[in-house]
Amino acid sequence: MTQLPAEAYSPSTQILVTGASNQIGLYLLPLLRAQQFAITAFSRQSHPNTEGLTWQTVDLNQPTSIAWPELTSHRILFHLAPLPLLSNLLPYLPASLNRIIAFSSTSCLTKRHSQDPKERELAQQLSQAEQKLIQYSQLRHCQYTLFRPTLIYGAGRDRNITLISQFIERFGFFPLVGKGQGLRQPVHAQDLALACLQSYNCEATYQQIYQLSGGQTLTYREMVTTIFQRLDKKPHFLPIPLSILTGILLTLRWLPYFSAITPSMLARMEQDLQFDHSPASQDFGYNPRSFTLFPS
Ligand SMILES: NC(=O)c1ccc[n+]([C@@H]2O[C@H](COP(=O)([O-])OP(=O)(O)OC[C@H]3O[C@@H](n4cnc5c(N)ncnc54)[C@H](OP(=O)(O)O)[C@@H]3O)[C@@H](O)[C@H]2O)c1
Repeated sequence: MTQLPAEAYSPSTQILVTGASNQIGLYLLPLLRAQQFAITAFSRQSHPNTEGLTWQTVDLNQPTSIAWPELTSHRILFHLAPLPLLSNLLPYLPASLNRIIAFSSTSCLTKRHSQDPKERELAQQLSQAEQKLIQYSQLRHCQYTLFRPTLIYGAGRDRNITLISQFIERFGFFPLVGKGQGLRQPVHAQDLALACLQSYNCEATYQQIYQLSGGQTLTYREMVTTIFQRLDKKPHFLPIPLSILTGILLTLRWLPYFSAITPSMLARMEQDLQFDHSPASQDFGYNPRSFTLFPS
């Protein structure tokens, strides 16, 4: 693994983190502060400043409202917010910024041929945003690394594992389409934050895209069983045919809990969503934890 000379990013190097308030940011900001970087963090909600960390209340959809002249010494951007928001910023990024680590999603692959037009649109937006970052980096001699995580969990803020936990706590069972044999690789947000730290000054990661899956491949049913166990409950599954479960969902979607669930999500319980993260392990030592051992 080839590293940039240490002086390239010394303590007090100025760093920009967009989407800093999300579950990856929760783990990444302390890691960056431990490196003594001077961090500017963007999110729409306000947060108190602490030593080495300055928050700015910013809407990434309004790039002209951002105080860009204050960012002309920033060297590295960690973009943790949804990737299409980065496309808005590219024309305004300061020339000093020569390293970008950005999060896309494996959804750009898995939802490309979804039955749901909104999911196909999301996949297309992600792919277009990836291409825009790649073109920008080529033109501006900037080093990018794109991460495509699988389903993220770990801070109790996700809409995957946390949603399943809430359902089990509320109803005491979990509805399963078929046998729930679709493969999953949940990835902990802290492992993604570590991936940022492991890669920002690792030359092998320059101009690369990595799938960042979790450290364990398990079936959907096994994943939900682990959640039952973590809640100290005996696993109780209710097999329901997809068409009936979809009908139930459509009648309940006016309730806030069910509004985030789509029929395509139900159909995917039997679909394998499996990705190889070995290139990331080889290039920068990515070593994600196992879900069964660390389900929270
Ligand atoms: N969740 C998953 O399972 C999953 C799976 C694969 C990939 N990903 C990708 O991984 C990354 C992290 O995902 P996540 O679920 O932890 O976080 P997320 O919900 O996608 O991130 C939202 C973050 O972006 C900020 N944000 C959103 N819109 C904004 C705007 N218009 N202006 C400024 N800030 C804005 C939010 O802060 P405020 O609300 O405070 O503004 C928050 O910090 C994202 O790129 C996501 O697309 C997620």
